[in-house]
Amino acid sequence: MSRHSGTVALVTGAGHGIGRAIALQLAREGAAVTVAEINEDWGRETVELLKAAGARTHFVKADITNFAEVEAAFADATAALGPISLLVNNAAFTDAGNLADIALDGWHKEIDVNLNGTYHCIRAILPLMRAQGGGAIVNISSVNATRYFGNPSYSAAKAGIISLTQSVASEFGRDGIRCNAVCPGSVRTDNITWTTRQQKDPQVFQKLARWYPLGRVAEPEDIANAVAFLGSDQAGYITGAVLPVDGGLLAGMNVMIDEFILESRND
Ligand SMILES: NC(=O)c1ccc[n+]([C@@H]2O[C@H](COP(=O)([O-])OP(=O)(O)OC[C@H]3O[C@@H](n4cnc5c(N)ncnc54)[C@H](O)[C@@H]3O)[C@@H](O)[C@H]2O)c1
Repeated sequence: MSRHSGTVALVTGAGHGIGRAIALQLAREGAAVTVAEINEDWGRETVELLKAAGARTHFVKADITNFAEVEAAFADATAALGPISLLVNNAAFTDAGNLADIALDGWHKEIDVNLNGTYHCIRAILPLMRAQGGGAIVNISSVNATRYFGNPSYSAAKAGIISLTQSVASEFGRDGIRCNAVCPGSVRTDNITWTTRQQKDPQVFQKLARWYPLGRVAEPEDIANAVAFLGSDQAGYITGAVLPVDGGLLAGMNVMIDEFILESRND
């Protein structure tokens, strides 16, 4: 039997990048998957890929910044595929930037999509999961939540997601609800941030690789594998955890050590 046969998942932002990879991984492992997306064309493309993989699937159009839309989408998904047993909060937006230059409405938008949007989905799923006796939630945070890598508004929102993860895990464990967070480092996707950076420097991913102890940036499937584990019964005693999926980036400062400490030993 596959690890996720019997799982009914809903993945936000599953029309693109990492969200699509998560939806496909869960489907390959036997889950029924609702694709929740603000971009209908992308969402329906993922649904076609899921159908081709043999999955039961459904599309709901939802802007996670709108709580009423989220509630309606979750009711629609439940009617189509059954009670949602795994929620993956993946949808996100960032326009990059730094504190000195960020516009006030830019700050507000990134907090709204990334933190408030995630909260809306959690607020909508908790009564449903409590009523059905439990479930699992996996929130996609970022290494940006843990220290400065630019994108201050996005980073503050992603740090808020870690706190929210701990609140849900602590308050709702007795209801059989597990909630964990995944912190990716750089992931090779064609989202707006990476597309812009690649246009400026086609070698950006190769240059980034030297900062990663494992010698490469992540592929979306690396993140999907971690999500599929945390969302499964194999992670049945894991809740409130914050898992870096970052090729070792947060483990240390290897470039600094190579350039300033080890080099000086050879002087
Ligand atoms: N790509 C990376 O290097 C990287 C690194 C760390 C963390 N992450 C996180 O991984 C997740 C996926 O990132 P990605 O690179 O695949 O991003 P992406 O931009 O390719 O995909 C995000 C998806 O979310 C959807 N979305 C955006 N706003 C929405 C809204 N208001 N309502 C519903 N859907 C909305 C978009 O339409 C898109 O399909 C995000 O949470 C991101 O913060 C990505």
